[in-house]
Amino acid sequence: MSAGKNILLIISGGIAAYKVLEVIRRLRDREINIRAILTKGGEQFVTPLSVAALTENKVYQDLFSLTDEAEMGHIRLSREADLVLVAPASADILAKMATGQAGDLATTALLATNKPVMIAPAMNVEMWNHPATQANIATLESHGVIRVGPSAGDLACGETGSGRLAEPAEIVASVLDFLEGQSATKPLAGKKAVVTSGPTHEPIDPVRYIANRSSGKQGHAIAQALANAGADVTLVSGPVTLPDPVGVTVVRVETARDMLAAVQNALPADIAVCAAAVADWRTADEAGQKLKKDGSGIIPDLKLAENPDILATISQSGASRPGLVIGFAAETEKVTEHARAKRARKGCDWILANDVAPDTGTFGGDLNEVFLISGDDAGADEHWSRQSKTGIAGALCARIIKHFS
Ligand code: C5P
Repeated sequence: MSAGKNILLIISGGIAAYKVLEVIRRLRDREINIRAILTKGGEQFVTPLSVAALTENKVYQDLFSLTDEAEMGHIRLSREADLVLVAPASADILAKMATGQAGDLATTALLATNKPVMIAPAMNVEMWNHPATQANIATLESHGVIRVGPSAGDLACGETGSGRLAEPAEIVASVLDFLEGQSATKPLAGKKAVVTSGPTHEPIDPVRYIANRSSGKQGHAIAQALANAGADVTLVSGPVTLPDPVGVTVVRVETARDMLAAVQNALPADIAVCAAAVADWRTADEAGQKLKKDGSGIIPDLKLAENPDILATISQSGASRPGLVIGFAAETEKVTEHARAKRARKGCDWILANDVAPDTGTFGGDLNEVFLISGDDAGADEHWSRQSKTGIAGALCARIIKHFS
């Protein structure tokens, strides 16, 4: 239920700011507490007095106000909310959020918050369509920011197109959905999951390493989906350039041996998903100093040693084995046949088999197509058609929920 929840509302500049007064009224009708920050731009369109009257709370405007800081520091302001709502979100504040600027109270609170953030953008159609704004939106969404609107129609500037602030009723509905979703018992609440993701780097010497092209996109999306479903997730990730999933404990590792140790450290768990592309081999003797090309024409003879198989190790770990162990099988031919053999060999419960032949673009790409193999009977295989890695993560999460229910 949403009564008694707390929202930090950030009102940035834009003609649509007046509509936010209606949002405040409807949220107050639901007994949702609102503290508001009004930016300098926002002040041009609504008065602090009207916002204070409707929120029944003080309105915060100045980062350097000693009185405000003494009463409620900007960090606390950003942390005591269940949701931070930016409405209207101007092109300017979106750009500042996307680049992590903190020049005023609103942007400082947005950078300092560890709470979910929802934006309701409103601006001129050309500003909305501009590649810079679209890139900022993509960045913010990759950080987990939730977006409501904008909608299309007549704009205050006289032009027509996308950029209208979502209607107050739509913003309120999104806020209520979010707050109610937060309070509802989540299907994987109480379950612990460990997920591996990304490549591993196996050092040759202090500056060189053996690696592969895994992006970590699939493993990270699975960690996020499990966390969204209420699981307590530890993500053990090799070196990747992705942002950390929201609400997940992330342990960063480099090598396969470190990854195994981190996974074992995260046990006991109910669910293990090994999505990392672990290097099969490491150098047998890592050089302490950079290997030198001395002009003699002698090429170093790299000796390799086998890395531990994390999936097989935890699948066969006796008492500490998670109840559901899931691995991946990246194959280039006879995908399900090879994957079924791998499931038996490693001792895991399910294998997600995918085709990584070069023409599929799966490795490092955004799309994936998967067969779920949960036993010896090929008739029971499930096929998840080509879709985003987030979609595959959602399908796996739904299947895990079904398994436990
Ligand atoms: O043997 P193969 O590398 O094809 O197996 C793939 C599956 O095994 C994936 O789930 C991967 O995360 C896991 N794996 C592992 N440790 C290794 C090699 C693979 O956990 N050393």
